[in-house]
Amino acid sequence: MIDAATRARDLLHDASAAVVLTGAGVSAESGVPTFRGPGGLWKEFRPEDLATPEAFARDPRLVWEWYAWRRTLVGACAPNAAHRALAEWALRSGKVTIVTQNVDGLHARAAREAAGEADPTVALPIEVHGSLLRDRCSGCDARSEPVTVDATSLATLPRCVRCGALLRPDVVWFGEMLDESVLARAGAAAATADVCLVVGTSALVHPAASLPLRTRAHGGVVIEVNPEETPLTRVAEISIRGTAAEIVPMLVGLTA
Ligand code: OAD
Repeated sequence: MIDAATRARDLLHDASAAVVLTGAGVSAESGVPTFRGPGGLWKEFRPEDLATPEAFARDPRLVWEWYAWRRTLVGACAPNAAHRALAEWALRSGKVTIVTQNVDGLHARAAREAAGEADPTVALPIEVHGSLLRDRCSGCDARSEPVTVDATSLATLPRCVRCGALLRPDVVWFGEMLDESVLARAGAAAATADVCLVVGTSALVHPAASLPLRTRAHGGVVIEVNPEETPLTRVAEISIRGTAAEIVPMLVGLTA
């Protein structure tokens, strides 16, 4: 009998187009906390205090303090074997689109590191929830490179050089819409892939969690890698219980 990992590897190898959807679990072994599991951020912090437009309007200093802490935290982390294997697979095969809900920048770092002197573009992720490593103006929406944030008082918070409004991290907050063009790119990749590999997401936050259903609707298959069961488990043809860094390199490591 062929085991689930071998079947998954064969499907990924044979696919002419593949999409990968990742969540916080793919970065857990890099030391980045997840949101909902043991030690998860939403166990310790309340999203309504820190991750909504209302929270930012009420207390931008507190919101920035939290995001500055998270920036420092991810700055001290490095891509793990799962990020690296996905980046190398995307570069090698040219048939993979990586879509991530993560804002930690680790897929992009892995892509640049794997590409070396070559062009990393095909391995760069579509970041549907934005990036912790980019700023956005709360007034005119202009995006910019992240500045060092001094969150000691309202007066020291960073401001837009064009319009003077407060800068904010360029992440999607609760109650906000995802960027339409970013979501359209992710949806198009999911809707045309033969295989959707889902790694390390609780699959509770939509529309990102619905992307694998687009692959299913188009006749493709869904493969899930997660130590726990999720709402996607019943949708997935193959569900592998294990961690990202242990399973993903095995699935895509030598695959074209
Ligand atoms: P969650 O924290 O909800 O889920 C993390 C998932 O990773 C769980 O299903 C865990 O079982 C799994 N997991 C834990 N360790 C793992 C490991 N080593 N390898 C593989 N899987 C592991 O994180 P997300 O699903 O990413 O949104 O959360 C979705 C969104 O909710 C986030 O993007 C964020 C949050 O609110 C925004 O900030 C907009």
